Amino acid sequence: MAQKTDLVIENIPKHIAVIMDGNGRWAKKQGKLRIFGHENGVKAVRDTVEACAEIGVEYLTLYAFSTENWNRPKFEINALMTLLVSTINKETKTLMDNNIRLATIGDTDSLPSKCKKELLEAIEKTKNNSRMTLVLALSYSSKWEITQAITKIAEQVKKGQLATEQITEDTINQYLATAGIPDPELLIRTSGEHRISNFLLWQIAYSELYFTEKLWPDFRREDLYEAIVSFQQRERRFGKTSEQISA
Ligand code: IPE
Ligand code: IPE
Ligand code: MG
Repeated sequence: MAQKTDLVIENIPKHIAVIMDGNGRWAKKQGKLRIFGHENGVKAVRDTVEACAEIGVEYLTLYAFSTENWNRPKFEINALMTLLVSTINKETKTLMDNNIRLATIGDTDSLPSKCKKELLEAIEKTKNNSRMTLVLALSYSSKWEITQAITKIAEQVKKGQLATEQITEDTINQYLATAGIPDPELLIRTSGEHRISNFLLWQIAYSELYFTEKLWPDFRREDLYEAIVSFQQRERRFGKTSEQISA
């Protein structure tokens, strides 16, 4: 197991994104309901958030609920939304104590009003915190995000406020939900699934991907360190040759 001392402190990713997966299977293995897994996933969130703040990560984005997750049984969706409200409520103090700002990406309007209210309150309360930004992806999917970005850009063009020749990668960045947030250098997915599930497709163009068999409720800071150690051992070439990078 990796430890904090194994990390090269000058090479900590500025932005880490996590697909927190495997809660249902974790619960099922113990003969419990899926929601028991979600409840126990909160501990993993707390430990990961704390560890990231401690080692100097600037942005941590957690995939908490996807657009496609709306297709789950109503019972599970309700339980997840209730858990979200109670967790945000309980953890706002911890965010304040740790100087962490909360932000969200996703179609927050589609969330139950109680959820949205709790979320907006926590965002407002933590808005001046500066140590780290915790971004919760809620009712988020990359295709949703890109579609709404294209719609907004098209509207600008139609109104004559933007010429098509002016559209650059930066224009697109500005219209994504992640505007102003640097792309993640490292993307972690738990539970052994090797897929992206509609998460940050544009932003992970050059991210390092790390997959672990650990189920999300079992994920702890040592697992995070292990992912970062793996990241730090890689050569990021961005299309260049290895010789160019080492020169
Ligand atoms: C991740 O765990 C949490 C959410 C998607 C909300 P899952 O609920 O997907 O758990 P598995 O993948 O079924 O084990
Ligand atoms: C991805 O997990 C979404 C979140 C972690 C919130 P899923 O469990 O929903 O992904 P798929 O459907 O198995 O790809
Ligand atoms: Mg899953």
